[in-house]
Amino acid sequence: MSSLFDPPIERRRSDSAKWGQVARRDTDVIGAWLADMDLPSADKIIEAVKERLDERVFGYSMPPSGFFQLIIERLERKYAWKVERDWFVIQPGVVPSLFFATNCLGEYGDRVMAARPNYHYFLETAERTDRLFQPVDCHLTQDRWEMDFDQMRQTINPKTRAFLLCNPFNPVGRVLDQQELETVAEICLSNGTMICADEIHAELVLDEDKQHIPIASLAPEIEQNSITLFSAAKAFNLPGIGGLSFAIIPNPELRAAFSRRSYGVATHPGALAYAATMAAYRDCDDWLEETISYLRGNRDYLQSEIAQMNGLSMAHVEASFLAWIDVKDLGLSNPYQAFLEGGVALSDGKEMGRSDHLRLNFGCHRSILEEIIRRMKLTLA
Ligand SMILES: Cc1ncc(COP(=O)(O)O)c(C=O)c1O
Repeated sequence: MSSLFDPPIERRRSDSAKWGQVARRDTDVIGAWLADMDLPSADKIIEAVKERLDERVFGYSMPPSGFFQLIIERLERKYAWKVERDWFVIQPGVVPSLFFATNCLGEYGDRVMAARPNYHYFLETAERTDRLFQPVDCHLTQDRWEMDFDQMRQTINPKTRAFLLCNPFNPVGRVLDQQELETVAEICLSNGTMICADEIHAELVLDEDKQHIPIASLAPEIEQNSITLFSAAKAFNLPGIGGLSFAIIPNPELRAAFSRRSYGVATHPGALAYAATMAAYRDCDDWLEETISYLRGNRDYLQSEIAQMNGLSMAHVEASFLAWIDVKDLGLSNPYQAFLEGGVALSDGKEMGRSDHLRLNFGCHRSILEEIIRRMKLTLA
């Protein structure tokens, strides 16, 4: 079966952090940890970047004409969410915005809440901003990871100034449904807790019967109490082209507080990032559709292979290209190391709040995924 992504691109000798950091360049370890894809970008993006390079002048950049309108129309078309130009704050990456959002409210010693397991920054932001972390544990119920809302209700209090929401949810692969989002919002709003929603994986929903819902779009009062973070980097595989993300903050006071925190700290996005993002949103919907279909195929293949491996299990991945694999039945003291020695660098679940799990990135060519599976089976044997 041929695809847009044939033949596979050799990344071992590139500057890829995913391949280079764990696998010294002369070794044969496969990088399957960091959350970027090994799939080539859309031709339209490459053309737009080349065109910008041909200008040959790289002074400070600003959003190209039509940039905000393109995003405003996209959010309305995809999620029926009407946002206004004034609500945008342009930022380099999404992760810095998590820190600005946490820092912009309250004071040292306040609480910051987030689900656990989670993308590691969500677990670290509180401590690194001199706040206290309040975890909300997640449990696997009928093949899907769910937040413990009883625990959330019991531990949240008026000192909890921010709830950091990751949706779609890295590493557990969930697309939170409307009921879950309404529950999060209800608990946060009744405690005066601001919601900072990282929705960077929003465009990579794999299940055809699921739909991403920006939490802020649910009601005007939620909109007024939230910061929503988006970027084209995950869906269009652009993290190496330079940071460009946008925070949408409808509440003017919150927006001013956020902007004060980022002032002088956040760098300006570069011309190539603007050119790539513009092309992605304007010209690459067909590419995205094919990519989602390819990832869906990878996910289904991975899921059926994992089901056949003794000691491993994974919940169904509803979005993105990250599988959260339960390895506790292997009884290994360091499962990460065992698979690394077997030639596959996965993410250690310990960093995301569960040392009995590993995260596998299947955003790669199918032949690489097949080799990953082969090596994992050999490791288990
Ligand atoms: C949920 C989530 N947020 C943010 C990021 C990184 O965003 P950025 O590179 O824009 O800081 C990642 C990357 O893995 C992610 O999974």
